[in-house]
Amino acid sequence: MGNEQRGGFASSFGFLMAAVGSAVGLGNLWGFPYKMGANGGFAFLVVYLVLAVLVGFVIMLGEFVIGRKTGKSVLCAYPKLGKKYGFLGVFGVLVPVLILSFYCVLGGYCIKYALANLGDVFHAKWGYLASGMDTGTFFGAFTGDMGAATVFSLIFVVLTGLIILGGVSDGIEKFSKVAMPALFVLLVIVIIRSVTLPGAGAGLEFMFKPNWEPFAGLGWLHVLKTAAGQMFFSLSLGMGIMVTFGSYLPKSENLIKQSIVVPAADTIVAIMAGLAVMPAVFAAGLEPGAGPGLLYVTLQTVFESMGAAGPIFGFMLYFLVFIAAITSSVSLLEVLTSSFIDKSEEKGKAPNRKLATIITTLVVAAGATLVSCDGLGANGVWVPFQKCFEQIPVWCDCWLDFFDCISEGILMPVSCLIMSLLIGWKWGPKFLQDEIEQEGNVFKAKGFILFCFKFAAPVILLFVLFGQLVDFGILNVAI
Ligand code: PHE
Repeated sequence: MGNEQRGGFASSFGFLMAAVGSAVGLGNLWGFPYKMGANGGFAFLVVYLVLAVLVGFVIMLGEFVIGRKTGKSVLCAYPKLGKKYGFLGVFGVLVPVLILSFYCVLGGYCIKYALANLGDVFHAKWGYLASGMDTGTFFGAFTGDMGAATVFSLIFVVLTGLIILGGVSDGIEKFSKVAMPALFVLLVIVIIRSVTLPGAGAGLEFMFKPNWEPFAGLGWLHVLKTAAGQMFFSLSLGMGIMVTFGSYLPKSENLIKQSIVVPAADTIVAIMAGLAVMPAVFAAGLEPGAGPGLLYVTLQTVFESMGAAGPIFGFMLYFLVFIAAITSSVSLLEVLTSSFIDKSEEKGKAPNRKLATIITTLVVAAGATLVSCDGLGANGVWVPFQKCFEQIPVWCDCWLDFFDCISEGILMPVSCLIMSLLIGWKWGPKFLQDEIEQEGNVFKAKGFILFCFKFAAPVILLFVLFGQLVDFGILNVAI
């Protein structure tokens, strides 16, 4: 399997940390806690878990099987299964380019905020407090500053590239084995502080109290759509990641077990993120929300209200979000780099990881520069491009949304849907069985898994696609 330039995981634990590192990212920290609270609390969690079992688990298994069976990363894996499936491989490299272009910008913001809080610990001039701005103004000034935002984004891109340069076992695996336990420890410290703040109970209630109200009338459709979209992104599905990681797995590895453990760990961290964030937000008397506003404005306000200890916890939180983000971006850049390596090998050229990493990092750097210069739309870099679409109803107002819409909104659900239909109806049980039952492993729960590939996953994925098109404003339906 593969060659020296391609590489592979050296241990099962290392693989697990890398896969969980990929799954645990901004989605868990700024998406899950709020969505859970706003969509029925504990009741949302139940829906989320059912979806994770029916769809998340099998799609992850399908990606691992395709990767390990072909021994190739996503661009070359699909054509190996049939020339006509090549377009799925192309989707699989397009998605990482689009997602990395904005994910690295958000990762760059984390570096900026971690440093700003660290500056406050030392009462330094480069700290947040020295700026004399309130949190909203600070965020707007930083994101609107093309030069500063681009520099931090590029630092994030370069750090991601450096880890990938090290290869699979010496780069991704070694880094994840240290970073993920560190993230866990930091998260526990922040949780302890958060839940012991006076007034924290309201946050716990917001997140966990079962609330059936959002399910009333057709509201359950909205809950289902939110849970399905969140699960899909949070598990890093449809991004080519798990296909690529699967190609690095030894045949002795139990694929079913890994497809259960990775989603379980991801969900536990998402719930822990809620325990870290929501009690603190409520204790400070603030309103929760989702997305950048929650992470960079609301939470920074929380830290400001904590007095002298605030910057220390602020640094810890933004540093842990940075770790979560970089272990995710690393997995995405590896999809591109390994696809490049496999493609050169197919063309009969000597594979060269260094060259592949430099080229893919430059591509991502270009995308990230565009998104960071746009400043979440504030700097209008998007406007000239939008003009080309004058005849089409406008469903995006910045580059970040546009990249997100094409990838998360369309390509990811479409490619998972097709993959699930292919396994369920065309390639059939033998396709899975041959790969799962390597070296004495047993294909357990076969009937259930096949049912999910044939029916449950396609139906829910169609629903995800529909929900995404509504969310991005391409379909004009109210749910
Ligand atoms: N699962 C990731 C998250 O929750 C999604 C992701 C993976 C994003 C890899 C970028 C890169 O944030």
